[in-house]
Amino acid sequence: MKKSNLNSVSVIGLGYIGLPTAAMFASRQVKVVGVDINRHAVDTINEGKIHIVEPELDMIVHAAVTEGYLRATTRPEPAEAFLIAVPTPFSEGYKPDLAYVRAAAESIAPVLTKGNIVILESTSPVGTTEQMVEWLSAARPDLRFPQPGATEVDVHVAYCPERVLPGHVVRELVENDRIIGGLTAACSERAAQVYRVFVTGDLLFSNARTAEMSKLTENAFRDVNIAFANELSLICGKLDIDVWELIQLANRHPRVNILQPGAGVGGHCIAVDPGSSSTRRPRKRA
Ligand SMILES: NC(=O)c1ccc[n+]([C@@H]2O[C@H](COP(=O)([O-])OP(=O)(O)OC[C@H]3O[C@@H](n4cnc5c(N)ncnc54)[C@H](O)[C@@H]3O)[C@@H](O)[C@H]2O)c1
Repeated sequence: MKKSNLNSVSVIGLGYIGLPTAAMFASRQVKVVGVDINRHAVDTINEGKIHIVEPELDMIVHAAVTEGYLRATTRPEPAEAFLIAVPTPFSEGYKPDLAYVRAAAESIAPVLTKGNIVILESTSPVGTTEQMVEWLSAARPDLRFPQPGATEVDVHVAYCPERVLPGHVVRELVENDRIIGGLTAACSERAAQVYRVFVTGDLLFSNARTAEMSKLTENAFRDVNIAFANELSLICGKLDIDVWELIQLANRHPRVNILQPGAGVGGHCIAVDPGSSSTRRPRKRA
């Protein structure tokens, strides 16, 4: 039995984040149109299969496609909510490359209508959501987007980062607490309505800039702590000390909790799209 008032969602970017997210909505009987520029991904999903490796996801996608709740395409179509989960890598000189976000925003602009919400999920430098609004506004001057001082808004916009662990995405998408960073309080409320469809974790209300910075902070924290364990391993190798024993002993301190050393920072997130610090000045609250 469908529990929400949300009827249609479009997820832009059907990779490790976008496809499981699309599948979660579809499994709650919301009509989902997934959009990806990768024709192979689109064709595979429409066959009820998956092009990525993630436990349990194949069964959920197969059921969603077979029951008609999930469909993939290369061209955006109208929907009530748009979620963007495209790559945000570094380019030369560790500059964040927002070309994918811009392309995704500009691709959905023609199909946006009054009452829509656009949510950016990609790990992004602070200010990206505001930048996205500028790209959307330029493409659709007929629609009112959240701007400082604006009281009337046609399309709500929010930043809601993803923090799932590959291999456990299906469970964590549902159970993890989620930051809801609307450009305005009304945007946050709309975004929360979208995630309430399948999220059982807490929805933590904030604003877009804080949400963007929180995701970068979480990634930096993980990166530094993994690096600390790995540095210890290198030092112990030189000093002929068993690093596992060392960490076990140190962790008996009531306020020390060192991670286990490994091959380095891995996964599809921190090592790929680590994010960046702010590229834009803070704006005044609307
Ligand atoms: N994978 C993770 O564990 C994880 C966790 C948290 C956050 N993130 C962040 O989420 C974002 C997406 O990561 P991912 O791992 O899903 O990436 P991914 O590379 O697996 O998937 C991205 C998808 O977007 C598609 N794409 C690119 N440009 C597009 C466009 N203009 N329109 C439609 N589709 C487009 C690509 O073809 C690809 O299929 C990144 O910012 C990443 O840092 C990832």
